[in-house]
Amino acid sequence: ASGQCPFRGTRVGGALGSKPQTDDWWPNRLQVELLHQNPPLANPLQDVDYKAAFEQIDYEQLKRDIKALLTDSKDWWPADYDNYGPQMIRMAWHSAGTYRIADGRGGASRGMQRFAPINSWWDNGNTDKSRRLLWPIKKKYGAALSWADLMILVGNCALEIMGFKTFGFGGGRIDAWEADRATYWGPEFWNGQAFGENGAQHAGHPDEMVTRDIRWVGQPDEEYYDLENPLGATHQALIYVNPEGPNGEGDPVGSARDIRESFARMAMNDEETVALIAGGHAFGKSHGMVSSDKIGPAPEGAPIQAMGLGWQNPEGTGFAEYTMTNGIEGSWTPNPTQWDNSYLENLFKYEWEQTSSPAGAIQWKPSNPNAPKTPDAHRQGVDHSLMMMTSDIALKVDPAYREVCQRFLDDFDAFSDAFARAWYKLTHRDLGPKTRYLGPEVAEEDLPWQDPIPALDHDVVDAADIDSLKHKILASGLSVSALVSAAWASASNYRDSDKRGGANGARVRLDPQQDWEMNRPQQLSQVLSTLEQIQSEFNGAQSGRKKISMADLIVLGGCAAVEKAAQDAGVSITVPFTPGRMDTTQELTDVESFEWLKPVSDGFRNYHNETIGYKVKPERIFLDRAQLLTLTAPEWTVLVGGLRALDQNWDGSQHGIFTDRPGVLTNDFFQVLTSMDYEWKPVDEREMLFEICDRTTGATKFTATRCDLIFGSNAELRQVAEVYGADDGHERMVKDFVAAWNKVMMLDRFDVQG
Ligand code: HEM
Repeated sequence: ASGQCPFRGTRVGGALGSKPQTDDWWPNRLQVELLHQNPPLANPLQDVDYKAAFEQIDYEQLKRDIKALLTDSKDWWPADYDNYGPQMIRMAWHSAGTYRIADGRGGASRGMQRFAPINSWWDNGNTDKSRRLLWPIKKKYGAALSWADLMILVGNCALEIMGFKTFGFGGGRIDAWEADRATYWGPEFWNGQAFGENGAQHAGHPDEMVTRDIRWVGQPDEEYYDLENPLGATHQALIYVNPEGPNGEGDPVGSARDIRESFARMAMNDEETVALIAGGHAFGKSHGMVSSDKIGPAPEGAPIQAMGLGWQNPEGTGFAEYTMTNGIEGSWTPNPTQWDNSYLENLFKYEWEQTSSPAGAIQWKPSNPNAPKTPDAHRQGVDHSLMMMTSDIALKVDPAYREVCQRFLDDFDAFSDAFARAWYKLTHRDLGPKTRYLGPEVAEEDLPWQDPIPALDHDVVDAADIDSLKHKILASGLSVSALVSAAWASASNYRDSDKRGGANGARVRLDPQQDWEMNRPQQLSQVLSTLEQIQSEFNGAQSGRKKISMADLIVLGGCAAVEKAAQDAGVSITVPFTPGRMDTTQELTDVESFEWLKPVSDGFRNYHNETIGYKVKPERIFLDRAQLLTLTAPEWTVLVGGLRALDQNWDGSQHGIFTDRPGVLTNDFFQVLTSMDYEWKPVDEREMLFEICDRTTGATKFTATRCDLIFGSNAELRQVAEVYGADDGHERMVKDFVAAWNKVMMLDRFDVQG
């Protein structure tokens, strides 16, 4: 009978994942499990060495296969102008264009367009068709060609068959196997309802909300425009801009402001922005033949028989001349499958007036009836007025964009070069250092956004050298705490999202990192000058090619200090050290772009500048940091316990340093954290700082921050803290700390990782 539970023997059962779940009941719980996403267990290709497999491909044949497919129109989704190139360029651009410089998340490198929510953003309408059209290529090359690589390479091939010379292609993007739940995309507005930070504003079942009305990710709400708030999570709402201008009101000036904002978040300047938009819109068309009300649900909400495709269109055939993607209709140029300068030429040659598409969207057409026409994408002998979007007109009305346009109008080669470079940057910038790029088309030139580090130019130290250098460092008078601090500062700004930062290059000696307050600049400069002395003595004493770089020596200093701290706590252990890092230069360091790597809050060093006015609790930003460092919950926990023992607070404060032997690798942090001898009291109603009082005497014993207490208050972290605080936990803690420490030091060592 209806209403009966389909599960045998119970009326209260439910399927795996049935709602409500823990997070529905307690939405503010720290989601520690976000550290364990996309696990190897979810990867059916765990055994594949992608680099080796990709390099086995007959690359030229692969490109020929792709190019042949691009002009082989299929009846289930006929190509506009008999050429799938333009729709593939848009797919590639949307794959890469989710990148944001603030936390390095988004971007092309894991193929996330295949999963929710990105696969179902209105902005990505019909990219599901583009990917499905590519299946024959993916099928042929299988595990040797990731979706992530294919989606970008097809963009390049599309540009090439339409007469554009690209700057190059590097493979090496490794597919993810599940949706990413770590990236906060800003509040998404579905049916006018916000799913924001605190979640619970929606009514009804979430599945019902996943409808065609998912429009622009991030409405132009002032709060979410606030770039001044440096928290990655809140200033990322706007990935693309509304082509009809802010609020769909057709205002080109407002649109220019939005474009500048959203392209700056992708780390693109005005010249790159104009090059990308004018370059991209030299090709293809927009689709707006049918009202959005009639279009079916996005892929994630589509019926099972749609087999992963969404946005079903009931009008006519639902494709070709009936296609509805975005709502705007028409093409920007008279020849949409040819690289030329006619986008800019016509944009500037004609006055443009507002009109609307069959779907009712605001768009623009030339006022002059004699302006060139553009052919219909499917019907012979039919042509149309040229089209511009409000966001295209923006390039003409904004003075700075206009200047760039004029330059590109006068010099097509300069425009072509700027577009080629900007496209290369767009599509490669989250792939990490150039050494990670695969294949025969990697551009020779080093580019500033690749954070170049010179190639290894010397022989590295051997075991005996390492031993003697460690002795010298420890005998130099530098404290354990100072050495650990320098090494941690050097390595811990790594972020796996775009594989920037880390100890290689020794950029901690350079601007801007050397001055970051959480790096303890004064102490850091003392450590560096002492290490430089040791380096020059060592290197001076060598007769052959053997040397040690500062990048290596800073890390080695950390190893020596951790070993001493463990020894002082009664545990003898060797911290692994893998030499081979190189020092880079100030010249090769883009200061502005490195500023983004500066933590806004960093629980590892109890750094939290409250004057900034965060919208999110420090422990949540801390979890975010741990995730960027790819730490597991045990690694995160043990590192914090160890760093507190080693006296690493940025300002020398005592918060969380629950020990009377700072600088010694004890498990005191965990013992105190898990003990019922103490009571924890907030110092004021903001609940940011706490006093830890002896339950019997009432005396304040220690102080702590939220980033300390979370390891005792969160149920899952507490279980880990108990392991390390137990009577048999100390040795395990030291061993695990050393392993996690080494992992952080090695995160950017792509040269020695598999
Ligand atoms: C198509 C908006 C930047 C490449 C479109 C469409 C819209 C749009 C609304 C029509 C989608 C459809 O209905 O089929 C924008 C906006 C941009 C922008 C607002 C930034 C302000 C770019 C960039 C590129 C690009 C940077 C590439 C470098 C394309 C291409 C098409 C397209 C090739 C044609 C797709 C096809 O023919 O199916 N764009 N775009 N766009 N866009 Fe953009």
